Amino acid sequence: MSRIPRKAHYGIDAPLVPLLMALGVLLCVGIAVFGHAPAWWPSAAILAAVLALFLHASLRGKFVAWRRILRALAWRGDEQVLDLGCGRGAVLTMVAACVPRGRVTGIDIWSSKDQSGNGPRAAADNAAAAGVAGRVALQTADMRELPFADASFDVVVSSMAIHNIGSTAGRDTAIDQAWRVLRPGGLLLIVDIQHARQYQVRLRTLGAAAGRRGLGWGLWWGGPWMSTQLVSARKAGDPGLGGQPPSAPGR
Ligand SMILES: C[S@@+](CC[C@H](N)C(=O)[O-])C[C@H]1O[C@@H](n2cnc3c(N)ncnc32)[C@H](O)[C@@H]1O
Repeated sequence: MSRIPRKAHYGIDAPLVPLLMALGVLLCVGIAVFGHAPAWWPSAAILAAVLALFLHASLRGKFVAWRRILRALAWRGDEQVLDLGCGRGAVLTMVAACVPRGRVTGIDIWSSKDQSGNGPRAAADNAAAAGVAGRVALQTADMRELPFADASFDVVVSSMAIHNIGSTAGRDTAIDQAWRVLRPGGLLLIVDIQHARQYQVRLRTLGAAAGRRGLGWGLWWGGPWMSTQLVSARKAGDPGLGGQPPSAPGR
């Protein structure tokens, strides 16, 4: 009998980071209590706030932001979508709900350092729990070497994934690949930390009028020093697939 998961579990992003933060909180509290050093309480409180912001971004903020982004688009319903670094499928399943007659392909290298419990099985279970398994395909692939023909997808999305590529050249290659597999008129949406400006610049060198905007405190991964941005670009050509980009290009 096949296993039917009842509830989706999307894991925690970069799980080592909140673990170290939690250990830091415990250490500060321990010194304050057992070392009779009340001067450590403010450090414990600040670290706890940083931890709370990180967990909020991973468990709630990411979902709220993507729901807003996806709702702002005029979906036709039969789009072919690619999710770069889909992980356990948080965005994959939300996009699949937008394309009842379409298909969403998620590719990943399934790093559990980047997301707890990562793997194609977890993503497949979550797609089943969301009732979208029939229109989801999962594939092991590196976003720097996409195994798809040029112009294969109407929409390409990527959430919190491209920054995991360590080198500037590698991230540029991922952007080039995302642009290559996008159809004329298609839409690219990237939500990420740290390197959003690099993605925008790279897209502009490819001829795209790429826009970029911040996504607010709900996606602060610990504080404003680790904020998240949306980069969006539409490829020239017949528009209408995936609606309009949710940020004004040209910033
Ligand atoms: C922080 S997780 C985000 C997962 C998912 N997009 C989400 O928002 O929940 C980053 C994902 O990027 C994947 N990843 C990292 N480098 C990759 C690469 N070069 N190619 C494909 N996926 C990659 C990781 O395995 C991980 O699943």
